[in-house]
Amino acid sequence: MVHAKIIGTGSYLPKKVLTNFDLEKMVDTSDEWIRERTGIRERRIADKQEAASDLALMASKEALKAAGIKPKELDLILVATVSPDMILPSTACILQHKLGIKNIPAFDINAACSGFIYALSVADSFIRSGVYSRVLVVGAEVLSRITDWKDRTTCVLLGDGAGAVVLEKTKGKRGILSVNIYADGSMWDLLHVPAGGSRMPATKETVQKRLHFIKMRGNETFKVAVRTLERLVVDTLKENGVKPDELSLLIPHQANHRIIAATAKRLGLGLDRVMLTLDRHGNTSAASIPLALDEAVRTGRIKEGDYILLEAFGGGLTWGSALIKW
Ligand code: ACO
Repeated sequence: MVHAKIIGTGSYLPKKVLTNFDLEKMVDTSDEWIRERTGIRERRIADKQEAASDLALMASKEALKAAGIKPKELDLILVATVSPDMILPSTACILQHKLGIKNIPAFDINAACSGFIYALSVADSFIRSGVYSRVLVVGAEVLSRITDWKDRTTCVLLGDGAGAVVLEKTKGKRGILSVNIYADGSMWDLLHVPAGGSRMPATKETVQKRLHFIKMRGNETFKVAVRTLERLVVDTLKENGVKPDELSLLIPHQANHRIIAATAKRLGLGLDRVMLTLDRHGNTSAASIPLALDEAVRTGRIKEGDYILLEAFGGGLTWGSALIKW
C-alpha cells in the first residue's frame, strides 16, 4: 500500500511584529477585546518588498533542507494561497522559477483557510495513484495586502507567513492515513473579497469603496465553523478507527481560540495536546497549519508513530481534515 509521508517541514515569518497595542492606535479596539474574543496577541506583517512567493520560497528552502532533497528532485509544486503575488500567473510558477527548476507542474489552490489541507489532498492523491513521488506543498499568505486596516472586525484577526512540507511516496505504515475535503458554496458571501475579479473589475469606485479587501460576517462564520469542525474531527477519527485518547496532537487552523477550544473539547482533549500559534501569528489562512506543524516538529512535540490530526475551516465555505501517523 503506497502512502504519502511528510519528510520535511519549513516555515517563514516576516520580521515585523504588529501587536494588539499597535492596533489600538489604528482602529477603535483594545488588547483586551482582541485577546478575549480571539486569543491573538500579535501577528507578523510582511515587508513592502515581500510578496507571497518570497515567503513561500523561504519556507520551501527550509522544508527541502529538512527533507534532505534538492529542488530538482521534486515532481510537483502546489501553493495554497488567497493572496497570490498576482492574479496571473500562479504563485506556484513564480516559486518554481525562484527555486531554479523547470518543467515540473506547479499550480495554486484557492480554498482560503482550508487551502493547505486541500493541497495536501491533491498531493496525497497524486502520490497514492503513482503519478508523482515527491511533492512540495506550501501555504503562503500576505493577507496584510488584502486587509482593510480601517475595519476593526477583520484587521485584528489576520497576519502574514508561510509554511511548507515535502511529501514523499512510502510503502511503510506511517504517513497520511486519510485526507477529507469539503465545500458549501451557498455560503460564499460570508467571507469574500468583492472586487478585483471578473465580477467586479478594479475601478476608481471599487478602490474608494474599499472593495478589494476581505469582508467577513464573523459571527455567522464562527457558528458554522464550530458546528462543522466538531463533527469533522469526530468523524475523521472514527473513520480511521483511532480513539481520541490515542491522538498525540491536534493541529487546527488558527482562526479563533474559542473555535479551537470547542473542537478540542468535543474530542475530550486538553489544550496540552493542541498546537497553538494563534497568539503570536494571528490567522494566516492557508499558512497557519504548516506554520504550526513546522513549529511542532522543531520543538519536539511530534515523535515517530504519533497520530496527528490537522483540521481547517474557511472561506468558500471550505473545510477539511488530515490524519497522519508520523
Ligand atoms: N474591537 C472591539 N470591538 C469589536 C471588534 C474589535 N476589533 N470587532 C468587533 N467588535 C464589536 C462588534 O462591533 C460588536 O459590537 P456590538 O455588540 O455593539 O454590535 C461586538 O464586538 C461583538 O461582535 P461579534 O462579531 O458578534 O463578535 P464575535 O464574538 O463573533 O467575535 C470574531 C468576532 C472574532 C470575528 C469571531 O466571530 C470569529 O472568530 N469568527 C470566525 C472567523 C473564522 O473562523 N473565519 C474563517 C477562517 S478565515 C479565512 O478563511 C481567511
